[in-house]
Amino acid sequence: MKLLLLGSGGREHALAWKISQSPKIDKLFIAPGNAGTREVGENVNLKADDFEGIKKFVLANSIDMVVVGPEDPLVKGVYDFFKNDPEIAKIPVIGPSKQGAVLEGSKDFAKEFMIRHNIPTAAYRSFNGTNIEEGLKFLETLKAPYVLKADGLCAGKGVLIVPTLEEAKKEFKEMLGGMFGNASATVVIEEFLSGIECSVFVLTDGKNYKILPEAKDYKRIGEGDTGLNTGGMGSVSPVPFADAEWMKKVEDRIIRPTVEGLAKDNIDYKGFIFFGLIKVDKDYSCAKAGDPMVIEYNVRMGDPETESVMLRLESDIVDLFEGVAEGNLDTKTIKFDPRNVVCVMMVSGGYPEAYDKGYEITGIENVEGSVVFHAGTALKDGKVVTAGGRVIAVSSYGSSKDEALTKSFTEAAKIQFEKKYFRRDIGKDL
Ligand code: AMP
Ligand code: GLY
Repeated sequence: MKLLLLGSGGREHALAWKISQSPKIDKLFIAPGNAGTREVGENVNLKADDFEGIKKFVLANSIDMVVVGPEDPLVKGVYDFFKNDPEIAKIPVIGPSKQGAVLEGSKDFAKEFMIRHNIPTAAYRSFNGTNIEEGLKFLETLKAPYVLKADGLCAGKGVLIVPTLEEAKKEFKEMLGGMFGNASATVVIEEFLSGIECSVFVLTDGKNYKILPEAKDYKRIGEGDTGLNTGGMGSVSPVPFADAEWMKKVEDRIIRPTVEGLAKDNIDYKGFIFFGLIKVDKDYSCAKAGDPMVIEYNVRMGDPETESVMLRLESDIVDLFEGVAEGNLDTKTIKFDPRNVVCVMMVSGGYPEAYDKGYEITGIENVEGSVVFHAGTALKDGKVVTAGGRVIAVSSYGSSKDEALTKSFTEAAKIQFEKKYFRRDIGKDL
């Protein structure tokens, strides 16, 4: 089979690494890919949202399946673009329809969906330019800290957690005034949930689903979870508190109702669902202390969770994708590697604020026994150079989390670039 993967980050390198191991794959293309994905497939110079360009490529190269990495092309409707064009309608696209992608594309829609299907999530209300006063009054009824969310996509930056009522009111007005452009024309205000977070992933064909290994990501730049939020500084899988009993609650109260809810609402969904969950540490109206609640949905895999999860997936991912495409995912088996995996993300000095790009990266060839995934790299004059804030992920197995972590940062130390930085405490809190 010839498969085209869309995207260019660490998540896509990890997906490409796993896809390329499938005996079903004759040829893997990645559009646009990065300096790492070319080691497991062939990069194609096309943007992931250039649908016409993708169509031409797919036809010219007899592509049999398209897998979508990031949310952007999904929210823009790449699934529907294929489905509605007779020339390419038969080529399966792994990823939800445009309507399904709204679960990530609109927080307000996701909240309504959860309430409609009785899925435990924080109490909330949505506001826009027409009811600012009501929003300010609603804030007065809540306790600190205050959670304000831009309704639309903001590249992970649209959530503010604010300590005082005064600041919350100010930020709320600024959000509606265009802090995130049109994405914050509607603002969701919700109850703050306290607890510990976990990412759970499923693949669904719209009727059946398979649960992938869970993971936890580390978003803050500094050790001990301090400092600014980033796109993710590392991840671990498995997550000790996501034991069989907890995962049963997740499946019964969250996963199954979500997949059934999508079907009931006639939403065409064949792809990944990412459940951003929290194990709450006190009682809420729809969950008791220790239970799972949903913080958010994403319609793709997580980054940098994928860089751990793919190492723990033993089954052939392309076989699972075929199950998604053919609607017989229930006939497929999914097996996990029981070992611990820790992913450490090496970033550019300065990130997530201003940083420089274009530094040469050396020493990757010295890494032994760990897997290196490129996140933000490019090729310049035949050399691999930094091309983003998050640069390279190193993922390792271990018989314990500590062993996997030690391995990852021992190997990460072999990779050199100017001003590199990484956290040495990934998974230590668990
Ligand atoms: P989101 O983009 O919805 O995932 O939000 C980004 C991050 O904000 C989450 O990963 C949480 O750490 C935090 N967050 C979002 N909503 C809440 C909430 N209701 N209570 C506490 N933390 C939250
Ligand atoms: N790691 C969180 C995300 O991918 O959104």
